[in-house]
Amino acid sequence: MTHAPGRGLPAGRLLFGGDYNPEQWGEDVWKEDVVLMRQAGVNAATVGVFSWALLEPEEGVYDFGWLDRVVQTLHDGGVGVVLATPTASPPPWFTRRHPDAMPVGPDGVRLVHGSRDTYAVSAPAYRSASRAIAQRLAERYGDHPALLAWHVHNEYGSLDFGEHAAAAFRRWLQRRYSTLEELNRAWYTAFWSQHYTSWEDVLPPRRTQYLANPAHALDFRRFSSDEMLDAYREQRDAIRATGSSAPVTTNFMLPSWNHLEQWSWAPELDVLSLDHYLDTVGPDGEAHAAYGADLVRSWSGGGPWLLMEQSTISSTVAGRRAHKEPDRVLRNSLSYVARGSQGSLFFQWRAPAAGSEAWHGGIVPHAGAGSRSFRGFERLGRVLESLAEVAAAPQDGPLVEADVAIVWHAEGWWATETPQLPSDDLDYSAAVRGAHRVLWQEGFAVDFVAPEADLSRYRLVLVPSLFPVTDAAVAGMRRFVEGGGHLAVWPFTGYADEHLHVVPGGYPGRLRDLLGVRVEELHPLDPAERVELTGPGEPDGSTGPERPLTGLTWSEHLSSEGAEVLARYAGLDEGVDEGAGEGAGEGVAGGPAITRHAVGRGAAHYVSTFLDGPSLRTWVAGLCEQAGARRVVEGCPPLVEAVRRRGAGVDHLFVLNHSRAAVRVQGPGVDLLTGAAAADGLVVPARGCAVLRTTERDGFTVTADPAGGEATPG
Ligand code: GAL
Repeated sequence: MTHAPGRGLPAGRLLFGGDYNPEQWGEDVWKEDVVLMRQAGVNAATVGVFSWALLEPEEGVYDFGWLDRVVQTLHDGGVGVVLATPTASPPPWFTRRHPDAMPVGPDGVRLVHGSRDTYAVSAPAYRSASRAIAQRLAERYGDHPALLAWHVHNEYGSLDFGEHAAAAFRRWLQRRYSTLEELNRAWYTAFWSQHYTSWEDVLPPRRTQYLANPAHALDFRRFSSDEMLDAYREQRDAIRATGSSAPVTTNFMLPSWNHLEQWSWAPELDVLSLDHYLDTVGPDGEAHAAYGADLVRSWSGGGPWLLMEQSTISSTVAGRRAHKEPDRVLRNSLSYVARGSQGSLFFQWRAPAAGSEAWHGGIVPHAGAGSRSFRGFERLGRVLESLAEVAAAPQDGPLVEADVAIVWHAEGWWATETPQLPSDDLDYSAAVRGAHRVLWQEGFAVDFVAPEADLSRYRLVLVPSLFPVTDAAVAGMRRFVEGGGHLAVWPFTGYADEHLHVVPGGYPGRLRDLLGVRVEELHPLDPAERVELTGPGEPDGSTGPERPLTGLTWSEHLSSEGAEVLARYAGLDEGVDEGAGEGAGEGVAGGPAITRHAVGRGAAHYVSTFLDGPSLRTWVAGLCEQAGARRVVEGCPPLVEAVRRRGAGVDHLFVLNHSRAAVRVQGPGVDLLTGAAAADGLVVPARGCAVLRTTERDGFTVTADPAGGEATPG
């Protein structure tokens, strides 16, 4: 926690609003927009994200007149501006003038304009045009009183495999490896005659005949993140060179893809921001909101950040037609704020009349402001206004205190996407999400940490698979355990070094000694197979947990080298037809499945299969107990979350009731939403919220409300 971005956003209020695309409408609509924004309490509009074609209609010819009027209209209406540089969507003339600056896919097909994100990030023409427009915008608006922040680009993440990328990739590799000999060693090019004798022969991992070289593929992901970071830095520096003092951000995107290594990006941003589209709006959507928020706060060094985009009531992202009820929009927003966001911004203000996102929804829906959903946003505006004091950060320490952390690194994700791993069902993101989900269900605050981070402030650290691990990370994990920490490791962790070279001598490679186990054989499972685990001792389950634990996807032939065996593989799954050959669990039956290795003052735990949801929850809850991790509030009813956000002198305890029954909150605090003191107990209705201002850490209870029956959904 050495770096805490979050500089420069207002500390006396929470931001509310979202992407605003006035260029899609006539000026009469702009006036109505500002009236409605005031009515809803909107105080921030993100402008210009996709406006390049209007701002620079021909190369070097700029037209800022319309944007001047937009910015002034917003300012006159009391709405601040998050001003974007429009570089995520070069205009059609750019293709005509610079065909070489169009991106090329891995299959060699060059794209052209017609959608968005069509640029080759390494192309000199693209980079200089981006710097130029960023500089022009900063010169014109850099000291405008409406300016809240700079929003560079939009969701960096478009990969390019063309000639410009090839040249930049070679330069990056030369810096990383110095010599071809080193590169050949790192990439294991003795395999399949891939030995390089000239840098010119090194290409991006374009489509080839059969399987790509995994180390090559991983380095290209690393390079692409660094290259996009360079492009971001150039724009940021062009803005800063004009003297504009507004904070600079770029919006990260979760969760379906990830092309950035956010730990190294974070120090380059004044404030981190996130676009977060839930992958489900069922009860798991609440856990997902918490996941995104915990990740970005952690990237932010524990400090404040900004939720730049979330969907309004309807979303079409990634083909999912998701609908959110207004009460969910409110609870989701407070979930992000509780975890450090300086506000709640949406994509987007007004639902478009046409175009490929016509059905994505807006704060002003197609139905107009006279609608249930708009009234929901008006309520959200009032709520955020009443929570203004929450925006003030504490003098020191993180905004959210967590005893438990999850190791997260983009390289774990990328490495798990390389070809021909022992199982096609390894899913890094799902493993991390699964670990976070059970901690959320159990009511623990969670941080994410980089593999080489200082872990000493945590009691429990989870590593839900991380295929490549560096020596430095292993040393840090050992220090943590020796000092009294509990480390818990999932399968497919530490098997390889940073070049994906398998560590010889048995799995889990670099973590073998610390975990006190050795795996000689992997037994991946088919998607339909599962393995049951028994308790310690005999494999008959007699001393095992009440509900046998179940493993999916993976099992291993494991032996203990000093670790205590806590659960074993029970053997053949009953559902498997024995006549069909070796069944799930047969090869590992009776062998150790879960272990615990006492090291120094702590313990290193290992689970050699991917536990299903309920089993993982049981196991992780037990680990939390052993490690002495504290819940935010002990004993919250299911689907009720409590999150404490530390503030300047006072803290705020958010109680978000996602359940269908009212709950009763009692403790030393006053609810900012109703003004009611919680000392004698206050009722939070089904799907409702409370935000208690408090100076106390303990003394809170959240219980089912005896008078509260089932409430109607929504
Ligand atoms: C975001 C993007 C927005 C919009 C939104 C909804 O990822 O930044 O511009 O496309 O998704 O699809």
